[in-house]
Amino acid sequence: MKIEVNGNSLELMIGDITKQSTEAIVNAANGTLMGGGGVDGAIHQAAGSELVEECKKIREEDLDGNYLRTGKAVITQGYDLPAKFVIHTVGPVWDGNNQVASEQLEESYLNSLNLAKENGITSITFPSISTGVYRYPVQLASVIALHTIVEFLQNNRFGDVTMTLFSERDYQVYKKALKGVLEK
Ligand code: APR
Repeated sequence: MKIEVNGNSLELMIGDITKQSTEAIVNAANGTLMGGGGVDGAIHQAAGSELVEECKKIREEDLDGNYLRTGKAVITQGYDLPAKFVIHTVGPVWDGNNQVASEQLEESYLNSLNLAKENGITSITFPSISTGVYRYPVQLASVIALHTIVEFLQNNRFGDVTMTLFSERDYQVYKKALKGVLEK
């Protein structure tokens, strides 16, 4: 499913994000930036070990040894990935409090989009941040993700945004959410 928003495009697709050749792909990372399971593990595996080296450097030099905070985003090269850049963001862990978590999830999408724009990137693809290991209900997360992306595209000349969903089920949930967001 592909739509046009203010001269930009927004597409939902099913696939493996490590195979996508948009300029940037987004990683649903954790604060350590050292890799993990899920999409994070797949991205680190496909990018090769130089990715973790650059992440270590960011932790040491830009974050003074601290963790990347929830909702924030940083950018690295893509190394062996087809994508030139990886934007790493940390989504919220679901604890049943939609108020706090929804704001943090919105921040993850928005900070990633702004960072891409600042770096002159015109195509980006997102996974479904926080809805795996971090257990955010996909029905709720999809509405926040798409509302944030659509609003960003309404206010910016960006280019192409896609969501690379990992299952038919997630794709259907996001498709339904997008219709809801556009009807508002
Ligand atoms: N391509 C696209 N999507 C993928 C891929 C892939 N190759 N692999 C997994 N996914 C999907 C999952 O099916 C899920 O829908 O990405 C979504 C996000 O799930 P997680 O990767 O578990 O991310 P998240 O819920 O944000 O949890 C982050 O998981 O591995 C750790 O280091 C990571 O601690 C962090 C936590």
